[in-house]
Amino acid sequence: MSDETRVKIESDTDVVLARGHGRAIGRKVGFSDTDLTIIVTAISEVARNILIFAKTGEIVLKTADQPGKRGIVIIAKDNGPGISDIPLAMQDGYSRGKDCDGRAEQ
Ligand SMILES: Nc1ncnc2c1ncn2[C@@H]1O[C@H](COP(=O)(O)OP(=O)(O)OP(=O)(O)O)[C@@H](O)[C@H]1O
Ligand SMILES: [Mg+2]
Repeated sequence: MSDETRVKIESDTDVVLARGHGRAIGRKVGFSDTDLTIIVTAISEVARNILIFAKTGEIVLKTADQPGKRGIVIIAKDNGPGISDIPLAMQDGYSRGKDCDGRAEQ
């Protein structure tokens, strides 16, 4: 494992900062532009979840080095309420306040 980059998440600005660090680390590892877009999207999603559900937290980024392959590790930490129903939260398309088609509930 490489050195860690830690970004405190307290505002939208911090989400942008975490995205930038993720892009830089991902680029150094050798990910394609397409993969970098996926990586920063994932960072945005978990960082936004911190702001919405826990108010504050932290994103930790590091490279994963294994023989023959490298990757990026993205850890989202907070001391909020936690996820009460993980299987539900993990369901494809699940989003609080929206139905399965992604439309807002009336
Ligand atoms: N950091 C967190 N703390 C507590 N609950 C969380 C956290 N992150 C996610 N969750 C729970 O998991 C659910 C699924 O998260 P997900 O990001 O997939 O959807 P969402 O945030 O509700 O909507 P979207 O991301 O589409 O705007 C959330 O609705 C919330 O209940
Ligand atoms: Mg979310």
